[in-house]
Amino acid sequence: MHLIILGAPGSGKGTQAVRIKERYGLAHISTGDILRAEVAAGSELGRRAKAVMDAGQLVGDDIVLAMVGKRLAQPDCVRGWILDGFPRTRAQAEGLGRLLAGADLDVDLGLLIQVQPEEVIRRLSGRRVNRASGRIYSREELIHLADATGEIPAAGAAPEGGDFYQRDDDKADTIRDRLAVYEEQTRPVIDYYENHDKVVRIDGAQPMERVTDAIFSILRDRFGSRESA
Ligand code: AP5
Repeated sequence: MHLIILGAPGSGKGTQAVRIKERYGLAHISTGDILRAEVAAGSELGRRAKAVMDAGQLVGDDIVLAMVGKRLAQPDCVRGWILDGFPRTRAQAEGLGRLLAGADLDVDLGLLIQVQPEEVIRRLSGRRVNRASGRIYSREELIHLADATGEIPAAGAAPEGGDFYQRDDDKADTIRDRLAVYEEQTRPVIDYYENHDKVVRIDGAQPMERVTDAIFSILRDRFGSRESA
């Protein structure tokens, strides 16, 4: 199974990609996670990427394509993969096509999670991430920590141990910039895969479990019940 998960920032791609990975035993390749790991490691790539990410802009196509090419060559990808946050430009989609053609592979399906911009802003301003495990918390999960204005602290003790933090690009102004970049640069990626008849749309405004059920139902219809052993 070779999947891509598409949708605006905060539409729930990462949340759902983890569930798909666990159910189907796929490699979960998130370009955002790879870039954040480079930033945390203080590598040359990380130093260059940080400023771009903090501004809500996109890292260069060549850099991201090289990163994904390297990751796809790792052994866990043989069982199939789900790409999350990539491709994000038409050039990346075409580059991925060339990369896969060399291995006689193709994208099987693009799952497009649809959510309105106001909901994206609500979700992302309340999102926190567990520093150690990478687990993503929703606003609702941490609402008991909110102050009188309803704001959740940017950092604090995570419910299951360790600490949580707020991503630098989850500040209100940057969220708006990311949404603009999505409309301008990533919408054409949806058109690209729709022209290849590879996109299914999912209502991402539903509760998380319902979104997961809708995705699993689509995957069962397309691929049968090939769950992870
Ligand atoms: P990246 O990390 O890919 O960020 P993104 O695409 O903006 O997506 P997010 O991670 O913000 O959101 P998501 O859709 O995964 O939502 P989540 O599941 O967390 O990229 C970050 C940056 O890296 C980019 O801006 C760019 O600079 C760079 N970059 C990355 N890839 C690149 C590429 N290919 N090319 C160039 N640059 C690249 O959910 C959000 C919140 O909502 C969570 O709190 C979650 O708990 C909650 N939630 C999820 N589903 C629901 C639901 N159904 N109901 C209620 N709450 C929900």
